[in-house]
Amino acid sequence: MSQISSGPRVIVALDYPDADAALAVASRLNPSQCRLKVGFELFVSAGPALIERLHALDFQVFLDLKFHDIPNTVAGACRAAARLGVWMVNVHAAGGRPMMAAAREALESVVTTGQRPLLIAVTVLTSMDEADLAGCGVNRTVPEQAHYLAALTHAAGLDGVVCSAHEAGALKSAFGEPFLRVTPGIRPADAALGDQKRVMTPGEAICLGSSHLVIGRPVTQAHDPAAVLTAINQEIAAAA
Ligand code: C5P
Repeated sequence: MSQISSGPRVIVALDYPDADAALAVASRLNPSQCRLKVGFELFVSAGPALIERLHALDFQVFLDLKFHDIPNTVAGACRAAARLGVWMVNVHAAGGRPMMAAAREALESVVTTGQRPLLIAVTVLTSMDEADLAGCGVNRTVPEQAHYLAALTHAAGLDGVVCSAHEAGALKSAFGEPFLRVTPGIRPADAALGDQKRVMTPGEAICLGSSHLVIGRPVTQAHDPAAVLTAINQEIAAAA
């Protein structure tokens, strides 16, 4: 199986302010059950040293820094990410096709043996609705804009997109495998919603076309995170 389709489909979001808190949760999880996502807050606070420590625990890491800048600058950031050996990194599709192509070329230029990091692009942030898009001068519905940016991402040769699970099915039909649909906003049936509004269960998201699920608090704030992950993976296996 390729790196794209193999391995756990759950990516646990380590949304913590410092390395100690993140490592305390990571040490209670099993790399055979999940990958880990490191975002802005944790990376700005804990830096590359934390990524090395997560790798030492055998986890694959999604570095979720959503690069969006001129192509040369984004290419440099992607080279730095590839040198860290992360499993996945992302950019904003709204940065345009030349920026995405430069990001992809940069990753390939660094990794000469083994697999380069997977590169995916954020389509429309799930916090945005049609009025927010209009406020940015975009006169499309959210599904239309997500499809438009996913097409741009696909044409630029990236490995997939971050999107809402509500859009994953349409994007899977349009672009097929192995183009990834990485979806946040997932809640097991008995979990608290927190600040997420349009949520889906893990089984529903997989049925609708998500390839990977980003799940934070339902796992990280559980009394027994490993048991919650086991139940989620069983639900995914039953739905797949
Ligand atoms: O705790 P929870 O499961 O809500 O965490 C979801 C994770 O996915 C967070 O790291 C959040 O920043 C991220 N995310 C999201 N919605 C998006 C993009 C990313 O919730 N559209």
